[in-house]
Amino acid sequence: MTFYILTIFPEFFAPFLEKGIIAKGIEKGKIKVIVKNLRDFTHDKRRTVDDYSFGGGGMVLKPEPIFEAMDRINEEIGNEKKRVILLTPQGKLFTQRLAEELSREKFLVLICGRYEGVDERVREHLVTDEISIGDYILAGGEIPALVILESVSRIIPGVLGKEKSFEEDSFTQPFLDWPHYTRPRVYRNFSVPQILLSGNHEAVKKWRLREALKRTLERRPDLLKEEYLDPEALEILKEIKGGKNESN
Ligand SMILES: C[S@@+](CC[C@H](N)C(=O)[O-])C[C@H]1O[C@@H](n2cnc3c(N)ncnc32)[C@H](O)[C@@H]1O
Repeated sequence: MTFYILTIFPEFFAPFLEKGIIAKGIEKGKIKVIVKNLRDFTHDKRRTVDDYSFGGGGMVLKPEPIFEAMDRINEEIGNEKKRVILLTPQGKLFTQRLAEELSREKFLVLICGRYEGVDERVREHLVTDEISIGDYILAGGEIPALVILESVSRIIPGVLGKEKSFEEDSFTQPFLDWPHYTRPRVYRNFSVPQILLSGNHEAVKKWRLREALKRTLERRPDLLKEEYLDPEALEILKEIKGGKNESN
């Protein structure tokens, strides 16, 4: 998968491309990240990327650098299908489902807004998707672009060491992840649940499922859609709701 990122702050991305999961994905040849500086698509001496909003208000990213950067991408990849994503608080909420959907694409273009946003003609004529990472306002689209870059990259087959490591994450399943413990077995008198040390894989599996369902019910009951749960999970959920709790 190739990610193109259009931004006026290309330097924000460098550390993320050099370390961690994104760097691993690049190293393994599973992903490619091409950051385009919108100032490289300006034609004046000051490399102006913004201008005043017609009708009054703050600054807005001008359309020309974004349209020209897209022309360049089209020259580079020809007629290949691509999703052109505008990061905006007005967009569709980003979720694990959407990350999974995007991970199946070959090319993603992420347009990072700044100031009051981007000229509306970009949205009208270039963009295929508008995505928000949550109901709050950031200063720019760079952090949302990194959120998408990392969450999509880690589910592309072969990027993570063990494919399993993401299949058990919260939101990949229809419930939150279970609690995790590591060594030492006892720390400051706080012990790891005995069952995890029992070596009984079946019992551990059952305990994890129960804990995952229990905490989802407490924290995010909206996620627990019975039609997505298998018979074992449904049975345990019924027990939890009925007040029977084997893990205590
Ligand atoms: C200060 S915001 C502009 C907000 C805009 N005036 C509005 O109210 O919709 C500047 C840029 O940050 C990015 N941004 C801010 N919050 C975001 C969010 N929650 N999700 C995605 N992008 C966001 C967008 O690219 C946006 O163009």
